[in-house]
Amino acid sequence: MKIAVLTSGGDSQGMNLVLKAVLDKCKADKIEIYKVSRGYEGLIGNLISPFTYYDMHGSENDGGSALGVSRCPRFLEEKYQKIAIDNLKNLGIDNVIVIGGNGSFKGSTKLIQAGINVIALPGTIDNDLNFDMTLGYDSAVNNAVKAIDNIMDCANSIECGIVVKVMGRECGDLAEYVGRAVNAEYVITNKTTIDYDHIANTINEYVKIGIKAPIVIVQEFVEDIEFLSKVLAEKCNKRFKTQDLGYIQRGGRPSAYDRAYGYALGVEAVEHIKRGEVNTALGMIDGQIRAQGIEESLKVKSAII
Ligand code: F6P
Repeated sequence: MKIAVLTSGGDSQGMNLVLKAVLDKCKADKIEIYKVSRGYEGLIGNLISPFTYYDMHGSENDGGSALGVSRCPRFLEEKYQKIAIDNLKNLGIDNVIVIGGNGSFKGSTKLIQAGINVIALPGTIDNDLNFDMTLGYDSAVNNAVKAIDNIMDCANSIECGIVVKVMGRECGDLAEYVGRAVNAEYVITNKTTIDYDHIANTINEYVKIGIKAPIVIVQEFVEDIEFLSKVLAEKCNKRFKTQDLGYIQRGGRPSAYDRAYGYALGVEAVEHIKRGEVNTALGMIDGQIRAQGIEESLKVKSAII
């Protein structure tokens, strides 16, 4: 039995803990383990080689991925899928652990169709897969909250409104949860009908009762934060600044939750392969690491955690 592991899409906190757990488990169980650098790009480019503790450089508690990640739209093309699968088969690799988000999960179904056994693990800060939480989401929420706390020290002192853009791609969970955690005056996600008068009136009500620095949280791709801050400055007769949190959310050390979650995912992935319970996703469901179909995992979630 040979296993390869890859991290794909955007990196997320906790990916390195999965890698460490896979190494630990394979060493204990005497299984040959390979790394694929740069996700699906590395599969196509044959960046596949034995995975050892030296590759981790003691970085298991760091954010990012020690193997590197990539977005790989060309993996959607059959020609490149064939190259990737031939590369795996030439090395006799029959099992692949894929850690990534929804694009990575979709890619993994192409490997399964070609006869490679897959375990897909949900590594993304976007929380856009059908699990309690995806790996990295908890860390990203905490990073965003800490960053906004810092911003608010200044905003309150200078009495300025703040419009903050957070990540999450097509999922509003990050925006919603961060909004609740920082007690934002307004949260805009892709479920919000944007009515500038309503936003401004709401802000004005808060300002009247003594809020010096109203916060508006905006899910990325939903509204232009520069434009919104100008509209609010005019309608509320108050200074507004913008802040795009960017990679501050995705980087940095994983939270305790994501460390434990990542390590448990890695151990369970190898256990499932050993038992032949493959071609499935694993993730936190009702507080336990459970298996679930890859298609089922791709269903859009409705509730935030
Ligand atoms: O999917 C994770 C994510 O961080 C999204 O929230 C964001 O839209 C995107 O990746 C940014 O991607 P990149 O790092 O490729 O710019």
